[in-house]
Amino acid sequence: VGSIITIPVVVHVIYSNSNENISEAQILSQIQVLNDDFRRLNADANNTWSQAADTQIEFCMATVDPNGSATNGITRKSSTRTSWGTNDDMKKASQGGVNPWDASQYLNMWVCNIGGGILGYAQFPGGSASTDGVVMGPQYFGSKNLGSGFYLSAPFDEGRTATHEVGHFFNLRHIWGDSNCGNDLVSDTPTHQTSNGGCPTGKVSCGSTDMVENYMDYTNDSCMNLFTTGQKNRMRAVLNAGGSRRAL
Ligand code: ARG
Ligand code: ZN
Ligand code: CA
Repeated sequence: VGSIITIPVVVHVIYSNSNENISEAQILSQIQVLNDDFRRLNADANNTWSQAADTQIEFCMATVDPNGSATNGITRKSSTRTSWGTNDDMKKASQGGVNPWDASQYLNMWVCNIGGGILGYAQFPGGSASTDGVVMGPQYFGSKNLGSGFYLSAPFDEGRTATHEVGHFFNLRHIWGDSNCGNDLVSDTPTHQTSNGGCPTGKVSCGSTDMVENYMDYTNDSCMNLFTTGQKNRMRAVLNAGGSRRAL
């Protein structure tokens, strides 16, 4: 139910070497993965879970910048800083990063090396506009399935880090609720004891089979393939009238 919602995206690439200065083709491969995953057009969609949903959310590169000028939706900045951590410095020009474009108009994505083995992180709805958006490492942004010569690192080389982070951006919690048999506030996802890695088969916890294929678990990119109807409804609630991201 509902109509297609299209989200304009700006990608801020901050790099300390040429590998991290990922190509426009690699960036566009990531936008394609987001569109495929959120519309359930992903090639690895399967019917294991009847809850699988088309969220009817789409993404496009911004075509107009905050000054009204034409843009390809990509900013690039060279930096001597080689790792950025998770304290939002990459979002602040005063710290050597790049300020967000108006967070009520754009989904801001920063692509820079976070370090510490962290693939990405996101800000939930309701936080400061000055730090709103998602952050991903360059080697986890884009998909090996949609081009060649990309700077990517297996087994997180199919663009699912951004799918997961944008899930958080739209208010989704981890499927295990970040505690032992925790609550993710979505009724049609099974309760998980904890996060799953790799791609376990037939894992049972908290009295039911784990949905290791869910984008909000911690499994490999090749393992993940769905959001549920409950997750769709939770995401669309922040975009609909009265929701905290309705202006997008
Ligand atoms: N660890 C990150 C987070 O909690 C992202 C996990 C992404 N998983 C993946 N298969 N790409 O936000
Ligand atoms: Zn997460
Ligand atoms: Ca649940």
